[in-house]
Amino acid sequence: MAVWDARFSKKIDKKMESFNASLPFDRKLFEQDIKTSITHVNYLASINVLTKQEKSQLIHGLNSIKQKGLKGKIKTEHEDIHSLLEALLKDEIGALAGKLHTARSRNDLVATDFRLFISEKNHAIKKQLTRLLANFLEVAKANQKVILPGFTHLQGAQPITFSFYCLSYFFMFLRDHERLTDNQKRILLSPLGSGALAGINYPHPRKPSALELGFKGILPNAMDAVSSRDFLVEFQANLAIIMMHLSKFAEDMIIYSNKQFDFIEMDERYATGSSIMPNKKNPDALELIRGKTGRVYGNLMALLTTLKALPMAYNKDLQEDKEGSFDSIETVENCLELAGSCLKTITINAKKMHLATEKGFLQATDIADYLVNKGLPFREAHGVSGKIVKHLVKNEKIYSDLSLEDFKNFSSLFESDVFQCLDLNTLIENKKSHGSTSFREVKKQIHLAEKTMKRILAD
Ligand code: ARG
Repeated sequence: MAVWDARFSKKIDKKMESFNASLPFDRKLFEQDIKTSITHVNYLASINVLTKQEKSQLIHGLNSIKQKGLKGKIKTEHEDIHSLLEALLKDEIGALAGKLHTARSRNDLVATDFRLFISEKNHAIKKQLTRLLANFLEVAKANQKVILPGFTHLQGAQPITFSFYCLSYFFMFLRDHERLTDNQKRILLSPLGSGALAGINYPHPRKPSALELGFKGILPNAMDAVSSRDFLVEFQANLAIIMMHLSKFAEDMIIYSNKQFDFIEMDERYATGSSIMPNKKNPDALELIRGKTGRVYGNLMALLTTLKALPMAYNKDLQEDKEGSFDSIETVENCLELAGSCLKTITINAKKMHLATEKGFLQATDIADYLVNKGLPFREAHGVSGKIVKHLVKNEKIYSDLSLEDFKNFSSLFESDVFQCLDLNTLIENKKSHGSTSFREVKKQIHLAEKTMKRILAD
């Protein structure tokens, strides 16, 4: 039985019934639907549409449904979680259940439920991000002396520390955390009391109900309240950005754990073997994180496309806002957890990182700067340093193979202090700018990160 049956003479087509139904997925909104309903009952009692006794019977009924749960209750004849709940309430307390839907529509109900659901998930994902931030900070603190090649174009560029590298991700994921906090301001605006689109024929200040549900305020226009999903676009975009960042980190770890690099070793718990090649150890967790980014982007694009040019106000198209959101939430939750586990358990191969830095001629910029200090214009210094690299590549040598004599063959400005330029620790320390990779600057960044963590944890 559908809630609108009286208006129709024909029974709904079977295929149409299942096509129309959202219960298979919006059952996830069960608890929110009960919560919103209880608040609505309180409101109805406050304007004397319900007596005190009716109010307590309804609330009791709703609580008892909540306790029993949905197991064995899902039947195909119910279109969505809202009509199922009405039917369950009728079974529970009889005809009084019919009063629950006074002064409300499924349009304001579903928008309210979904905002509550997304707000909870937003909060949970923020918690997970906080844990990931703590993981990055911990690894950063433990590896302040570890030097590795920093890349541009995935070619060795300049020496950096592993701590500096981890902090780059810390500050990147911190912005994702902040974006979720900001998003919450627009998620936590209540549509309840807006009715189908035009408001309801009962006095309803709406704010008290909103606050009872944990919203921070109300959406001021009923038609906007029932039809807007921009809070969700924003949330899904935030999830897409998190995945973009996770995929970048996953890609780095895939490259660094490749034997040609051998900078890190993945923990076996997060790797898999091959069914044919006994030698293989594949970084599947990381590859899946990288791969699943696609579906989260896809869900965002699907939602934007569903919403494009939708006429005001509610349209059934809006039912399509849920499955992609559920999928993105689950994907991001899984990926955040696994990224944290992978990071916490990597073995850092400091020697290999150091060796790769030596071999990659990463001192070249500093050698140019050395000549600048001796009075040569940077462009010329760049040229001299470039010639030395060309010579080393051609002769399959590294800087430490060169004598002072050799250096002098490229420029008479070279003195014995040029060898300081070859020392990676000195090069790291030579970085003087705010936010650089120098040991001192990294300490400052760690300090800032620690302060930030304290603030986030106290929130
Ligand atoms: N299942 C619907 C949805 O998710 C609930 C709202 C139905 N409203 C309506 N006017 N048919 O959008």
